[in-house]
Amino acid sequence: MSSSEKTQTKTPLLSIRGLTKSFGQIKAVDNVSLDVFPGEVVGLIGDNGAGKSTFLSLLSGYNKKDSGDFYYKGEKISFSSPRTSRRNLKIEMVYQNLSLAPDLTVWQNSFLGEEIRRFGVLMDVPLMIEKTARVLKTLNSKVKPTDQVGELSGGEQQLVAISRALLFNRDLIIMDEPTAAISVSKIDDVLKLIKALKTDGKSIILVSHRLEDILTVSDRIVVFAHGKIRDILVNRNLAIEDLVRVMFQDRNVKKEEF
Ligand SMILES: Nc1ncnc2c1ncn2[C@@H]1O[C@H](COP(=O)(O)OP(=O)(O)OP(=O)(O)O)[C@@H](O)[C@H]1O
Ligand SMILES: [Mg+2]
Repeated sequence: MSSSEKTQTKTPLLSIRGLTKSFGQIKAVDNVSLDVFPGEVVGLIGDNGAGKSTFLSLLSGYNKKDSGDFYYKGEKISFSSPRTSRRNLKIEMVYQNLSLAPDLTVWQNSFLGEEIRRFGVLMDVPLMIEKTARVLKTLNSKVKPTDQVGELSGGEQQLVAISRALLFNRDLIIMDEPTAAISVSKIDDVLKLIKALKTDGKSIILVSHRLEDILTVSDRIVVFAHGKIRDILVNRNLAIEDLVRVMFQDRNVKKEEF
């Protein structure tokens, strides 16, 4: 049996079948099917408006699908909100514009909406601080649980967002342009973090316009166009030009114009 056949016989962590979402006349996501395997980084690329963010929003429960099915470890599951997506799909979403509360501390952001309470009432602040500190340590970060998020750099804020995935032991982390809002010098840190999550057995779906980042971390690269999957490339001997060619094959755009 070849290694590619072996991969195909593994049970996917998440199977998506026939996922569809329209906004009025626009089919933002059009009959998309995809498997994501344990410990795999899937890069998601495509032109502006291709449907990448909408696709992620259907997984994270922020938008409601029109049709399609989700299977988690082979079992059909449903969810209707970000909360139930996190519970049932074990997904943590890291957003393009971060969506952290700048006035709150790191630990408060980490546990936002999922606070640990004693006897169901009182917040267990020391325990939440301790758990946050432990995760930050595994991420090799100097950030402290009591730091105010608004005073952290973009890269550090990204780390806080990602730490939620570890705190709640999510299986799948989906990231929409995680390196868009941070300085170039911090991009390597985020890429390292993605690799560390993968080593830890997590699966990651990464949307990025930075094709070099996609090539650095992805196992497979899914090319979206007009709401559909145009192609899925195994990341072996690929160059940026190869990705650009598939992304823009209907537009005849040269790399220099990208
Ligand atoms: N809430 C919305 N209401 C109406 N139309 C929407 C909404 N969200 C997305 N769209 C439309 O759906 C299509 C897909 O958009 P989406 O944001 O998913 O693309 P994208 O691939 O993430 O693009 P980008 O690379 O620019 O982030 C676009 O035509 C967009 O205008
Ligand atoms: Mg987008």
